[in-house]
Amino acid sequence: MSKAAVILAAGAGTRMKSALPKVLHKVAGLPLLGHVIAALRAAGVERIVVVTSPAGEAVRDYARALGCESAVQHQQLGTGHAAASAKEALADFTGTLLVINGDMPLVTGDTIAECLAAGARTGLSLLAFEPKDPGSYGRVLLTPDGYLNRIVEYKDATVSERAATLCNAGCYAADAERFFHWASRLTNHNAQKEYYLTDVPLLAREEGVKCAVALADEIAVTGVNSRAELAEAERKYQDRMRTRLLADGVTMTAPETVFFAHDTVVENDVEIEPFVVIGPGVTVKSGARLRSHSHLEGATVASGAIIGPFARLRPGARIGEDVHIGNFVEVKNTVLEKGAKANHLTYLGDARVGAGANIGAGTITCNYDGFTKAVTEIGAGAFIGSDTALVAPVKIGEGAITAAGSVITQDVAPDALAIARGVLTEKPGWAKAFRERKRTEQK
Ligand code: UD1
Ligand code: MG
Repeated sequence: MSKAAVILAAGAGTRMKSALPKVLHKVAGLPLLGHVIAALRAAGVERIVVVTSPAGEAVRDYARALGCESAVQHQQLGTGHAAASAKEALADFTGTLLVINGDMPLVTGDTIAECLAAGARTGLSLLAFEPKDPGSYGRVLLTPDGYLNRIVEYKDATVSERAATLCNAGCYAADAERFFHWASRLTNHNAQKEYYLTDVPLLAREEGVKCAVALADEIAVTGVNSRAELAEAERKYQDRMRTRLLADGVTMTAPETVFFAHDTVVENDVEIEPFVVIGPGVTVKSGARLRSHSHLEGATVASGAIIGPFARLRPGARIGEDVHIGNFVEVKNTVLEKGAKANHLTYLGDARVGAGANIGAGTITCNYDGFTKAVTEIGAGAFIGSDTALVAPVKIGEGAITAAGSVITQDVAPDALAIARGVLTEKPGWAKAFRERKRTEQK
């Protein structure tokens, strides 16, 4: 059976107090919407329609970039109205439809699969969960035989209904054609004068379709409505990543201080010291070590490499086997081959560093003239003296040495020594004579 999904993302997101649409706020470096799309794909959903407000241009662009379609909800009249806005986009679709809130970044393919399985039993299902704090979630009331009786929105609920502990997660499955038929019959006779998606099960029951309730893990269905909830979702996401990586054989002495991105790959026997922050696009191979206070994004680190403490790897940093990147070293768009070392206070940008080369403290690749970026090539086994400025484009041959303090503006041949600094002159006794002259002048 083919599967499609409608993601609801047209809400005003007022509680975020943001110029950015709520679903584009990020958890672990990926927009909330990206997390929901990834989970749907993992559950085998082929077509995805994202419902946006008319102003949701940025959301539509993002959805398109991830291979999704979009539909516009012209007025924000409620979740049921939003779901119905996708009807036209899916007019040619037959199969199972999932409708899901766009603000659930911790949802997984497995959770969605459970909703689908429950829907296949009766023809309609929803995900429910038992949160520690039910807050303002819609309350799920069951029939004695365990099907949905009805959902009461918090604002419409009586005191005793609010005491119910089972809550609506905001994910539903049904046959697409039947779902849109029910959605078109919704009314807005409630406290918020909105067309509630949560009333769909009542209309289904009138046609003899029971709504099955699949129980989801609280963490997987955490919704984000405010910055505090965004921070809470981030915390839960990071905890999940840390637990998974520890189980996969990664050593972390203080995992609660280490941060990952949604796509971070860390192999077993990697050691990560406290206070390491990893942004999107990072792969760390088995046996590498990330030392304290290092920041990595868009970088790969091969086995045996040691990064930090206090190192910064920026996009395009390709750190080879057994390479050492030490304190206050920044690497951008640069390849370091096996065993190369840059241990202190260095900037390597748009460069290639050959195997076993040694980059002295204070070395800078001068890669940018304010207009274009130029490349620095450092041959295998070269020795770059401390405080060398390499003015790119420039090539240092294999095994060459640059003298400390040199400004290198032209290519250096293999095995040569390049010195480019002022010649030292020593004036014997000059300092003493200078002091004596000054003291006499002051008398
Ligand atoms: C909704 C559910 C509630 C559930 C909760 C789970 C309804 C009526 N209530 O409440 O039972 O416990 O989610 O998180 O469905 N949206 C639109 N257009 C609109 C209104 C909303 O696209 O006109 C979208 C929002 O962008 C959001 C989603 O629908 O992604 C849910 O809307 P939100 O306002 O967050 O609903 P809740 O109050 O959280
Ligand atoms: Mg919500």
